[in-house]
Amino acid sequence: MFYVLPNPQAIAEYVSDLLIAQIQKKNNAVLGLATGSTMEPVYEKLSKQVTHKNIDVSGLTTFNLDEYIGLGAEHPQSYRYFMQQHLFNRLAFARHRTFLPDGLCNDLTEQCEQYSNQIRQSGYIDLQLLGIGNNGHIGFNEPGTPFNSRTHVVTLSEQTRLDNSRFFDSMNEVPDKAITLGLQDIMESRQIILIATGVKKAEIMAELYESPVNEQLPASVIKSHPNAMILLDEQAAMYLPDNMRKAVGA
Ligand code: GLP
Repeated sequence: MFYVLPNPQAIAEYVSDLLIAQIQKKNNAVLGLATGSTMEPVYEKLSKQVTHKNIDVSGLTTFNLDEYIGLGAEHPQSYRYFMQQHLFNRLAFARHRTFLPDGLCNDLTEQCEQYSNQIRQSGYIDLQLLGIGNNGHIGFNEPGTPFNSRTHVVTLSEQTRLDNSRFFDSMNEVPDKAITLGLQDIMESRQIILIATGVKKAEIMAELYESPVNEQLPASVIKSHPNAMILLDEQAAMYLPDNMRKAVGA
């Protein structure tokens, strides 16, 4: 389940190849997408490869994991904006099938219900990409989130706001609420790939490696998924025991 590659670039190449294989197998696949700096090299590589190989992405449907409440599509720190910049504007996605929660929606309860329903109606997610927060969150499912959760509104922990404040001008501007796909929605995906890179993720990855599946460490839920892969670079894997590291393809 834990696989180590040398660096973020090698991970980007590997994941881009996996995504392309998925698209070639099923041109109307449903992809679960994530934001965050971990994903930037992945989307960079994917955009180049899709263009180079002339792959048709117009039949795909995408669902993003989360969005800040209070930030609209034009706000540079909204996740819609991130996706437009790093992926959607670069390739010929069908814009009306690139779903993210709407951070400016008035009826959040209804939106949450609809978002999980839309995923079900689309036939569930074929391949879900995940990053991980320093406190083990996936999407914005903070420690203590029930494993049977659906799309819901979250109050962000101080640690998460602090971690994400590097993208904002000041801590005051970091939203304190977000909408996230729930853990059960994520677990219904056919395949899950969690990526962690860099030394800042080393401690949480060691914890994830050692920890039993439990709600205090949201990412641990994917250890009970039948088709999940945790991909780390050498830095994020620095505290994993040597004999437990697997090379991809081994
Ligand atoms: C945010 C997102 C997560 C992401 C995490 C890690 O909190 N909601 O989905 O995994 O950041 O981000 P980064 O890749 O920048 O470390």
